[in-house]
Amino acid sequence: MILKKTIAGFASALFLAAVTLAAGGQSAPMKTASQTSAASEQNWWKNAVIYEIYPRSFQDSNGDGVGDLNGITRRLDYLKELGVDAVWLTPIYPSPQVDFGYDISDYKNIDPQYGTLADFDRLIAEANKRHIRILMDMVMNHTSDQHKWFLQSRSSRTNPYRDWYVWHDGKGETNTSKGEPPNNWQSLFGHSAWQWDAKTRQYYYHKFYIQQPDLNWNNPKVHAAFEDIVRFWLARGVGGFRFDAITTLYEDPNLTDEGIVKDSSGNPIINAYGDPQLDNSKTDNLPGLHPVVQEMRATADAFNSNRFPGTRVLIGETYLPNIAELAKMYGPPKTPEFELPMDTQVGLINKLDVAAFRAKLTDVETRIGGHTPMLVFDNHDNARLDMRYGDGVHDTDIQRVISTILFASRGAALFYYGDEIGMKTTPPTRKEDVKDPIGITGWPREKGRDGERTPMQWDASANAGFSSAASTWLPVPPNYTTLNVQAAEADPNSLLAWYKSLIRLKKTTPALARGDNEMLDTANTKVLSWLRKTPGEPAVVVSVNFTAEPQTVSLTVPGSGSQAKTLLKTPGAPDPSSLQAIELGPYGVYVGEVQP
Ligand code: BGC
Ligand code: MG
Repeated sequence: MILKKTIAGFASALFLAAVTLAAGGQSAPMKTASQTSAASEQNWWKNAVIYEIYPRSFQDSNGDGVGDLNGITRRLDYLKELGVDAVWLTPIYPSPQVDFGYDISDYKNIDPQYGTLADFDRLIAEANKRHIRILMDMVMNHTSDQHKWFLQSRSSRTNPYRDWYVWHDGKGETNTSKGEPPNNWQSLFGHSAWQWDAKTRQYYYHKFYIQQPDLNWNNPKVHAAFEDIVRFWLARGVGGFRFDAITTLYEDPNLTDEGIVKDSSGNPIINAYGDPQLDNSKTDNLPGLHPVVQEMRATADAFNSNRFPGTRVLIGETYLPNIAELAKMYGPPKTPEFELPMDTQVGLINKLDVAAFRAKLTDVETRIGGHTPMLVFDNHDNARLDMRYGDGVHDTDIQRVISTILFASRGAALFYYGDEIGMKTTPPTRKEDVKDPIGITGWPREKGRDGERTPMQWDASANAGFSSAASTWLPVPPNYTTLNVQAAEADPNSLLAWYKSLIRLKKTTPALARGDNEMLDTANTKVLSWLRKTPGEPAVVVSVNFTAEPQTVSLTVPGSGSQAKTLLKTPGAPDPSSLQAIELGPYGVYVGEVQP
């Protein structure tokens, strides 16, 4: 099995995540919007289930082979039925699509490929009716090189937009030579992070593609521009934002070279692009980013209090080296930052290692100052779960394990379209088919991110029901004839049925909705077990087997008896006779309510 390392590479390079909180009884039907109290409405995000949609690949409605907003609107009932509270859309703004939307050329419009502002307003209105919030992707580190700000900026050294971006002289530049780039910094997408501009004879900095020049966050006008953009989308009714690449906003003003990462024998590590791997110490997680997030939070909070009954949420894309750095992303009490910075520490362990999971889950429960964790295992930059956690034999059971950790832990849960049916990573097999430019620069070691961005598999009809086009922007994986939503809906033991049950339990069982997480049986190296408990409500135990062999666990819950009532278990498994004898099959899962 190939262990694909896209974000693993991306993440490690950077150092490399209702209905409202169910207040009611454990088996009460889900509450409708009008029944939820104002307090639980304010706190909706603390137990939120958030679904990431890659709009190009979710549902095409106009037959051009590319997904669009009207397609998403058409599928809202599916999302409602699944139990999601909010949908995060990766960027849908006008864009040359070099980085498939992360290169934005206009922050206040919709790319015609995806629809119009009127389509967007309709999506928001239809989502509201179903009590689903729409979250936008906010890319503040860089714009497209086709954005009018950058076109102005590069037009002359004296243009008023010149200092909206990061321009520097080369080293040893003369009238006839461009010299060398200002220092050794590299793009995360390969090679120097400095691009020579012949017209104005300086280099501009880009942490990502050449077509994604970094904005200069030392310029107050850049701050004001983004506050305005945030307000623009809040006024249209969005439920919040996911802040892209937030740790890369600032760079060392002294332009100090970065260190080269060495292997255990002291040799430089060479990355997929053939460059020495840098430590990112001068271009990532610089302290200046915190005041910017505080400012965006204050902007959103001020807007919120005037206009909306429910809180909008700010989510951070926060690849960080440790829990202490993640804790800082929530901000000081008086100047809060993200409500939900993604915990990428748990999701990117990338192997079923009980001790590692226990340690990281304990970290996020105990070392973020009582804030709400946001777990995430999968997104559009990572190989899908099959490649990172699967063994090719028990993949469905392994995804039951992962999804149980995601939904039965405290906090907000973020997952990626297609996880719920077990979609497989399907990378291109020929360089000429690659769409994501890093897959061309890095071929064959880095095949790019196309493999995790293939069209959603809805049914067994042509193009998996994604599109009526003759061909789709990325090919539909051949397994769609059997691996699709329609087939999963017909099978009570499907992964999709499992996701729905888990999400429903997360919403309707008080201990799962808001209880503390406490690890149990902590010497066990094969099974991860934990307890969820909240005062005055029955506690819940969860056990997940991290091995392909059957395991029996014995749990002791202080202050409780030894019987449990099954809430959910891997299909076909027996009900345990007691908490001291929970039998789990290969990668088996048990969730039970502890009896008094
Ligand atoms: C997004 C990537 C994108 C990059 C540059 C990220 O972290 O998730 O898909 O390529 O930012 O915007
Ligand atoms: Mg379309």
